[in-house]
Amino acid sequence: MATVTGKSPAADEVRRRRRVIAAAAITALGGLLFGYDTGVVSGALLFLKTSFGGLSNFQEELVTSLLLVGAMIGAIVAGRLSDKIGRKRTVLGTALVFIVGVALAAFTPTYPVLLLARIIIGLAVGSASMVVPLYIGEFAPPRVRGGLVSLNQLAITIGILVSYLAGYGLSSTHNWRLMFGLAAIPAAALFAGMLFQRESPHWLIEQGRDDEARAVLRQLREPGQVEPEIAEVKEVSRGRASARDLLAPAIRPLVLTGVALAVFQQITGINTVIYYAPSLLHDAGLGSSSALLANVGIGIVNVGMTIVAIRLLDRTGRRPLLICGTIGMAVGMFATALAFLGGAHLAGASAVVAIAGLVVYTGSFAIGLGPVFWLLIAEIYPLRIRGAAMSVASTANWGANFVVTISFLTLLSAIGGTGVFLLFGCLTLVALAYFYFRVPETKGRSLQAIERDLRGGQSARPAADRRAA
Ligand code: BGC
Repeated sequence: MATVTGKSPAADEVRRRRRVIAAAAITALGGLLFGYDTGVVSGALLFLKTSFGGLSNFQEELVTSLLLVGAMIGAIVAGRLSDKIGRKRTVLGTALVFIVGVALAAFTPTYPVLLLARIIIGLAVGSASMVVPLYIGEFAPPRVRGGLVSLNQLAITIGILVSYLAGYGLSSTHNWRLMFGLAAIPAAALFAGMLFQRESPHWLIEQGRDDEARAVLRQLREPGQVEPEIAEVKEVSRGRASARDLLAPAIRPLVLTGVALAVFQQITGINTVIYYAPSLLHDAGLGSSSALLANVGIGIVNVGMTIVAIRLLDRTGRRPLLICGTIGMAVGMFATALAFLGGAHLAGASAVVAIAGLVVYTGSFAIGLGPVFWLLIAEIYPLRIRGAAMSVASTANWGANFVVTISFLTLLSAIGGTGVFLLFGCLTLVALAYFYFRVPETKGRSLQAIERDLRGGQSARPAADRRAA
């Protein structure tokens, strides 16, 4: 049989697989930067405190949270850009913004310039958060799309862990400039690697550049799959889209689902653990090295359970992992709330329960809501408005992250550990109910088939449930 390379079909298959994995891995460097740049500040703050003549609490909070404000803006801008100039060029631009922001942070002469650098890094983080899953989702074959898109989440968790280790490793030198500056390495690798990647075939078809799309798809799909995919994508991409289309009756529920998933991903408390666990445990009486060690442990569980999720997403489907993971998150939060019942100071058994609760919570997030949110928003939107709708969901995610991060410490001192974690536990139960009734299953289907189904106003529950009903 004729093959693309003139070699055996098996050799062609191996080449295709390599290309797809290489492209996903390179783009996922954007996820690594997302994780690193959001995580690094906790370690850097310890030494920034005494720089620039000493920083107040408020000034510290600004360094942390201005990145989130930048990310909100970055996610909005990147959505429009990725529909207009393409996914590849948006990733390239994002890598450049990362390099500028990180260099400015590392060499900043003054505190206000550092704030500016954090906003610039935020722009890139927000942009990466939406364009990476978008790009991977469009070139991945449906059979393995869940695992490939979730490489992005894996990269986020690895970035967070590396930032903890960098913070720990550089703590003796107090070198916060290097902590920020190290991110220039993956940023440069993202830029260089992306130069060799091809544009998303779906976006090319949307632009009417079928021949270029065909050439890309030939390298990624089995020969018999190329023309049907082009025809399918053409069918669903017919017609011009405008921002108002996001509010059209057929689309609005999907936009709401994405926003709800985004908000639930944040208001169930993940970043209070990711950003604040060491200070929380330290304040609760653990020595600083035990608190840091517990934190690295949480980081490792986060990475490990994301790997488990990647292996399972395309087998069990998205919903079972989302639902089971969310139940685990609630259990973890309630256990942590219990540990704080005896007061803010944790000793003996209550310290163990608190750490176990946080570990169960983080592991459960990593197997469900962490990867599933970013995956679903890359899957459920019609091609015509995919970039714009994903950016709405990502912006909502960064906005909710900002609100939780900025209010957590105040909330903690107002209602105590038990109160805060009970609140997160209850919000997790609300999220669970929402996911059960409203979130669709997307496993193994082409993005076009998902679009046709959801447009037809099908129920959010999976096909099997619907048949039984
Ligand atoms: C979330 C981040 C979070 C990270 C933790 C991501 O899916 O969007 O806000 O810090 O997971 O692993």
